[in-house]
Amino acid sequence: MLHPLEQLRDEALREIESATDEQALETTRVKYLGRSGSISSWGEQMKTLAKDEKPVVGKLLNEVRNAVTAAIETRDAQFRLEKESGALARIDISLPGTPHEIGSLHPLQQMHERAIKIFRRMGFALAEGPDVETEWYCFDALNTPPDHPARNEQDTFYLSDGRLLRTHTSTVQIRAMESAPPPLRVIASGAAYRRDEVDATHSAQFHQIEGLYVDENVSVADLKGDLEFFLRELFGSETEVQFRPHYFPFTEPSLEVYVRSKALKRGEQWIEVAGCGMVHPAVFEAVNKARGDKAYDPEKWSGYAFGLGMDRLAMILFDIPDIRLFAENDLRFLRQFA
Ligand code: DAH
Repeated sequence: MLHPLEQLRDEALREIESATDEQALETTRVKYLGRSGSISSWGEQMKTLAKDEKPVVGKLLNEVRNAVTAAIETRDAQFRLEKESGALARIDISLPGTPHEIGSLHPLQQMHERAIKIFRRMGFALAEGPDVETEWYCFDALNTPPDHPARNEQDTFYLSDGRLLRTHTSTVQIRAMESAPPPLRVIASGAAYRRDEVDATHSAQFHQIEGLYVDENVSVADLKGDLEFFLRELFGSETEVQFRPHYFPFTEPSLEVYVRSKALKRGEQWIEVAGCGMVHPAVFEAVNKARGDKAYDPEKWSGYAFGLGMDRLAMILFDIPDIRLFAENDLRFLRQFA
């Protein structure tokens, strides 16, 4: 005859086998193995047994408890497996995956990288300066007199502490010369700010590429040749370049640079792309004053400088009709340059 514990075990095993879900299984577990479950309560009954019965029943109780526990674990694992394979069965692994959106460089950044690449081949190193500047770097050191219209509050964004948003990247010329003696050949690319009326060709924030080359015997011929080379590399070999006399306080002589190319959409039209000139001796003297030496002796050194309109270059290169598109973040526009 079976011991009552063995009967309990067989009963429990049948119930575990016929449990149809995890919840039913849990109910069965509590019924037999819970704190006041029918197998567990045998632990209490042990105390009432005769001394010689105790080890026999104790051993049996352990075996029964282990057998029922193992059966519950096995059944539980079955349920989990069924659930997982059921979920997997609903996945169609032949469906194409979800594509990740890959970003791309902004057209102005692309323009910057193209320009830097060409200038690097020409031996220029990269220099930089802050967007928030002092009047010294933006005007005084660049030989711009106190009454010059560019300094006007109508043209320049001033901060309450007297500093300003740089109106051109020419500030970096001064910073570069202050930090290193000649010879020097640097470019700087970045934002500039003016209180312009915003329209298709003017923006309060725009971008420039500044160039500065100081050495012995640098001439206007170097300036023209180098800029022509750069512009033909950028726009194609049939590009025509024209230099027209102009005035900038920090260069003498000063020139404006125009391009025209049949390869470009704007064809026959001359388009202004830069200001340039030979570094004014007064600029060298201002730098010497700030450095406290005579490193940039205008008798010994000469140099050229230029400021290219980066937005303008990008608009020509990519045939973009409106400068405001650069800042609007319209994905329909930006995706065309991906
Ligand atoms: N800074 C001038 C501007 O923003 C452009 C320019 C002209 C830069 C002549 C130069 C230069 O370096 O030599 O209008």
